[in-house]
Amino acid sequence: MCAYILGIESSCDETSAAVLDNTRVLSNIIANQQVHEKFGGVVPELASRAHQQNIIPVVDSALKEANIDKKQLSAVAYTRGPGLLGSLLVGSSFAKTFALALGIPLIETDHMEAHILAHFLTDETVRPVPRFPFLCLTVSGGHTQIVLVHSPSDMKIIGKTIDDAAGEAFDKAAKILGLPYPGGPMIDKLAKEGNPNRFSFSEPVVPGLDYSFSGLKTSILYFIRDQLKQDETFIEKNKADLCASIQLSIISILMKKLVLASKQTGIMQIAIAGGVSANTGLRNAILRNKEEMGWDAFIPKISYTTDNAAMIAVSGYFKFLKGNFAGQHLTPYARQSGR
Ligand code: KG4
Ligand code: ZN
Repeated sequence: MCAYILGIESSCDETSAAVLDNTRVLSNIIANQQVHEKFGGVVPELASRAHQQNIIPVVDSALKEANIDKKQLSAVAYTRGPGLLGSLLVGSSFAKTFALALGIPLIETDHMEAHILAHFLTDETVRPVPRFPFLCLTVSGGHTQIVLVHSPSDMKIIGKTIDDAAGEAFDKAAKILGLPYPGGPMIDKLAKEGNPNRFSFSEPVVPGLDYSFSGLKTSILYFIRDQLKQDETFIEKNKADLCASIQLSIISILMKKLVLASKQTGIMQIAIAGGVSANTGLRNAILRNKEEMGWDAFIPKISYTTDNAAMIAVSGYFKFLKGNFAGQHLTPYARQSGR
């Protein structure tokens, strides 16, 4: 069977559309919204407006690049949540209207599950695919989860953050250092030149497989504040070492619970997903553990780590195979628990 799935992603500040031929990516267009940069974070109202401006040209480009006419599409998959409600409304309203106009099925997908299912996307690069069941460390700007993945439709969150997400920790630390939003990629870049063992920050004590990152942020904030009192050029002089040390702290917190989850479940198929899985230090830590623990490790292609519609389309593809379609009455949800 050949299914052409159009994916629509609009949960935060990326407007994205993709066309898949089954799991094969024919196009994956992403329009980033620069408008938030000067505010140091995403402004929800501006994000909704930018999605409204971007959605038609982005879908048009995705169809053109895939060389697919809209009449050839088999289904439209969209992000129902979690995310910013106003942003989600733009993508979901478009998807509903498009599916209705074309007389094809509409498929709702969960953004966090889609990050995980990005591992099943295929393209010109050959990458190994995890076998079920596997564990996925899903790390993004809004979520940090360890997910036990039994199948595309059966996932169980076995650990999660009780406060900030890992991406938020990167972004907030970057803000303290005076770096632009989003801070994760900047810290990653600067960390490459720095000494990760130069500074150390307090690690949280959280039971089980859950995470906490708010204490780390406070520890960084107080440390920098004290240092600046003695030398106002402290950040400038030590930027690379600070970035490398902060990055190491976040990765060390993430890896400890992931190792524990692997030991507790006996699962050795380990994947990472979400925006923070683009981080060089985290990717290297996974590869080191692969050797030390004997894991089969799965690291996504960089272009499928941060928000994109190809992951939404592949998530939709699995539901398409099962005939799991959505009604026009469904409303978006801001939180995963609000499904
Ligand atoms: O998955 P994503 O694109 O959006 C959400 O679903 O939240 O993740 C965005 C997050 C941001 O916090 C960003 O700083 C972080 O991913 N991020 C990174 C890197 N690239 C993106 N964090 C660390 N290192 C990176 N290279
Ligand atoms: Zn995301």
